[in-house]
Amino acid sequence: MVRKIGVLTSGGDAPGMNAAIRAVTRIALRNGIDVVGIRNGYKGLLEDDMTEFNRTDVSDILDRGGTKLGSARLPEFKEEEIQDQCIENLNKHGIEALVVIGGDGSYRGALALTKKGINCIGLPGTIDNDIPGTDFTIGFDTALHTCVENVDKLRDTSSSHHRCSIVEVMGNHCGDLALYTAISCGAEMVISPETGYDEEEVLEKLHYLGDVLNKNHAIIIVSEKVCDVESLAKKVTQHTSFSGRATVLGHIQRGGSPSASDRVLASKMGEKAVDLLMSGVGGHCVGIVNNEIMSLPIEEALEQPRNSRKKLYRLFDRLV
Ligand code: F6P
Repeated sequence: MVRKIGVLTSGGDAPGMNAAIRAVTRIALRNGIDVVGIRNGYKGLLEDDMTEFNRTDVSDILDRGGTKLGSARLPEFKEEEIQDQCIENLNKHGIEALVVIGGDGSYRGALALTKKGINCIGLPGTIDNDIPGTDFTIGFDTALHTCVENVDKLRDTSSSHHRCSIVEVMGNHCGDLALYTAISCGAEMVISPETGYDEEEVLEKLHYLGDVLNKNHAIIIVSEKVCDVESLAKKVTQHTSFSGRATVLGHIQRGGSPSASDRVLASKMGEKAVDLLMSGVGGHCVGIVNNEIMSLPIEEALEQPRNSRKKLYRLFDRLV
C-alpha cells in the first residue's frame, strides 16, 4: 500500500484548487498515508521545494481562491533529464505517488512520471473547461459566475447609453466560458473558436438589431484569441447605430472564492484520486461524466475529442 503521496498544482490557477488540495490531504491522512505539498507545480518538484502537511495545514483554505501551493508552468518538464531529477527528489523524500491538479499539459507530465514508476493521478483544474475526460473542470463554475456578474453590470450601463458592449472572456482555445456566459446573460452574440469570426456578419447582425428590431443595446461575448475586441468596438461605432465599447475581463476570472459547486466537485475528485492511488492505480485522470465521478487512463483521455457543444450553440441561437 502507498505510504506517502505528494500533491501539486500546475498551470494557470483556478478557484477550487485549494479545496482539492484539502480533500487529497485529509482523505490520505485519514487512511494513514503521509502527504507532502509541493510548491509551484513541477518547478517545486525540480527544485525540491516541498513540505509535509498535517490536517491543520489545509484548514481555512476551502473558501479561498488561488492555490495555497502556488502554481507555475514548466515547459522544460518534457525533457527526460528534468523528469529524472524530479524522480530523484521524490525518492529522497520517500514519496511514492502524486496527485497533479492542473490542465492537459500537467496531465502529460503526470503520465511521464507514471511511466517512470511514480503513480500519478491528474485532477482537472482550470477555468477553461478544456480538459478531455471530464464534462466540467474545477474552477469553471466560479469563473462563469464571475463573467456573468460582470456582464450583468455591463448590460446596465450599455442599455443606458445605446451601446454595444463587446466582452472578452478567457478560455484559451475553448469557447465554453464564452458560450455559457452568453447563454446565462442573454447576450445578443457569441464569438468563439467554434463559431469563428466574420466581421461583416457581426456588423450586419448589429445593423439588424439596431435598425430593424430597434434594440437600444447589445452584448457580444468574445472568447479570447479569436478577434481583437478593441478594433471590433471601433468598427461597431463607425458602421452601426450603436457606440461600441470593449471590456477585457482578464485575470479577474481566475480569482475569487470558489462556488459551492466547485468546492464539492474538487472534494469529490480529491477523494477519488486518493482512492485510486490506494488501489495501486496510476496514469489516470479523474473526471465528472454525466454527473458521476470516474477515472480513465490519461492517454485515452488525451485522445478523446472535445465534448460537442452543438446543442448549446443551437439553444443560444434559438434564445436570441
Ligand atoms: O488556462 C487558464 C488561462 O487563464 C487561460 O484562460 C488564459 O489563456 C491563460 O491561462 C492566461 O495565462 P497567464 O496567466 O499565463 O497569462
